[in-house]
Amino acid sequence: MAKLWGGRFKLESSALLDEFNASITFDQKLWRYDILGSKTHARMLGRIGVLDSSEIALIESGLDKIASEIEQGRFVFSIEQEDIHMAIESALIERIGDVGKKLHTARSRNDQVALDFRMYVLDHSVLIADKILSLMTMLLALARKHTHTLMPGMTHLQHAQPINLGFHLVAWCESLRRDVERLESLHTRNNLMPLGSGALAGTPYNNDREWISKQLGFSAPTRNAMDSVSDRDFALDLLYALAMLGMHISRIAEELVLWSSAEFGFMRLSDEYATGSSIMPQKKNPDVPELLRGKSGRLYGNLMRLLVVMKSLPLAYNKDTQEDKEAVFDSVDSTLLSLEILHAVCESASFDKKAMLKACQKGHLSATDLADFLVRECGVPFREAHHITGRIVAYAESSGCDVSELSERELVSELTKLTPSLESTFAKSSISKRLTLLASMQARTSLGGTASKATSTQISSLNAWAKKARKKLPELKIEAKVENE
Ligand code: ARG
Repeated sequence: MAKLWGGRFKLESSALLDEFNASITFDQKLWRYDILGSKTHARMLGRIGVLDSSEIALIESGLDKIASEIEQGRFVFSIEQEDIHMAIESALIERIGDVGKKLHTARSRNDQVALDFRMYVLDHSVLIADKILSLMTMLLALARKHTHTLMPGMTHLQHAQPINLGFHLVAWCESLRRDVERLESLHTRNNLMPLGSGALAGTPYNNDREWISKQLGFSAPTRNAMDSVSDRDFALDLLYALAMLGMHISRIAEELVLWSSAEFGFMRLSDEYATGSSIMPQKKNPDVPELLRGKSGRLYGNLMRLLVVMKSLPLAYNKDTQEDKEAVFDSVDSTLLSLEILHAVCESASFDKKAMLKACQKGHLSATDLADFLVRECGVPFREAHHITGRIVAYAESSGCDVSELSERELVSELTKLTPSLESTFAKSSISKRLTLLASMQARTSLGGTASKATSTQISSLNAWAKKARKKLPELKIEAKVENE
C-alpha cells in the first residue's frame, strides 16, 4: 500500500518495516481523540482562511462516518497504515477525495500525537480520580458504622494500642486523598494545548492556537513548539501518580489478605470475590487482594519503562516516544479495574467484631494508658511510669491475663508494692476503669486521634473534601465512554 509519506521513496517499504514501525495495533485506542483533534483543526483552518465552509463540512462528515465505523467495529485497521493518525487521514481521503488531502495543512503528526495522547492522559486522570472518590465515599460510609468497633492498632505488625475500625479505614482514605490531589495537580499543570507546534518549529500559517485551546477545554496553548512535540512529562506524571496509587492499593490489599486469614479472622471476603483451590476443597483464597498487591509490579514497571525511553532523547520528536503509549494504557487499564474491584471487595466483605475485640485482649494494649495515668495523676516522670507499667505487664503475664483485665484490687496492690508513697492516690483513683480497651481508645481525643468522636470528625471533613473534589473535577475532553476501550 502506498504510504502517505511515500513521495521520496523508490521502493515500497518492507513488510518487516511495517510490522516494526507500526503503532496502530495499540494506538487505535486514541481514535476518538484523533477525530476530535482533526475536526477542531479543520474548523481552525476555516477560521484562518485555509479551508472554506463546504470543505470543512465535508471533512467533518467524513470524520463522523469514520468514527461510527470504528465505533461499530466495521473499520479495518491495518499495519501498513502505521498509526491511528494516518489510518484516519487515509480513510478520510478514500471517502471524500481531494479535500481530505487538505486536512494535514499546518500540522504534523508530531503535534497531532502530542495532542491526542495528552487528551487521553488528562481525561483518564479525571476518570481515575472519580473512581478513587467513589471508593473513598464507600469506605467513609463503612467507617461511620465502625467508630466504636474495637480492633488492635499495630506497629511492627505487633499489637500496640486499641483503635476503632473506622479510624483504620480513614487512614486508608487519607492516602487515597493524596492520590486524588496528585491527579488534580497533574491535570492543572499539563492542561496545555500542543497542536500548531508543527513538526518542531511552529508553522508558517497563522494557526489560531488560542481558539483550538479554548475549543478543547485547555487552559492555554503550550509555549514552545520544540518542547511541545518532545515533552512526555504529562504521561510520566500520570505513571508516577498511578505507581503511588498502586502502592497504596497494595498496602490496603495486604491488610485484606491478613485480616481474612485464619490467624486474624477480622473479616470474611464475600464468596463473590474469593476463589477456591483446585485441590483443597476447603480453601477460600484471597486472590483478588493478592492480585491488587501484585499489580503494583506493572505500575512501577511502566513508570520505569517510560523514564528510560525518555532519558537522553535529543530535541525534538524522536520515534522512541512511540514507546510511551502501551505503558500508559496498561497502567490506566489496570488501575481502573483495580479500583473497581477493590471497591466491590471492601463493600461486600463482612467484619467480625468479636474476633477483633478478642485480638485486642492480647498484648496489653492499654499498658500506655497506665503509664499516662501515673504521669498525669500521680506526678511520676514518664520514663519511670514506663518502667512501673512494665512491671505490671510482667505481673499480668505471670497471672495469665491481659492488663485490661486486671481487677482494681490487684492493680492497687501491685502498684503500691512498686511505689508505696502513692498508695493513697492509687486507692482513690479507680484505675481499672481507665485500662479497659474501650476507655483506652476513647482517651485518644487529640486532633487526628482514634477516639470515636475524633474519628467522626475526620470522617466528616474527608467526606466534605471528597464532595468538593468531585464537584471540581475537570471536564472531560471526550464525554463518551472512553473508559473501556
Ligand atoms: N505513531 C507516532 C508516535 O506515536 C506518531 C508520530 C510520528 N511522527 C513521526 N515523525 N514519525 O509517536
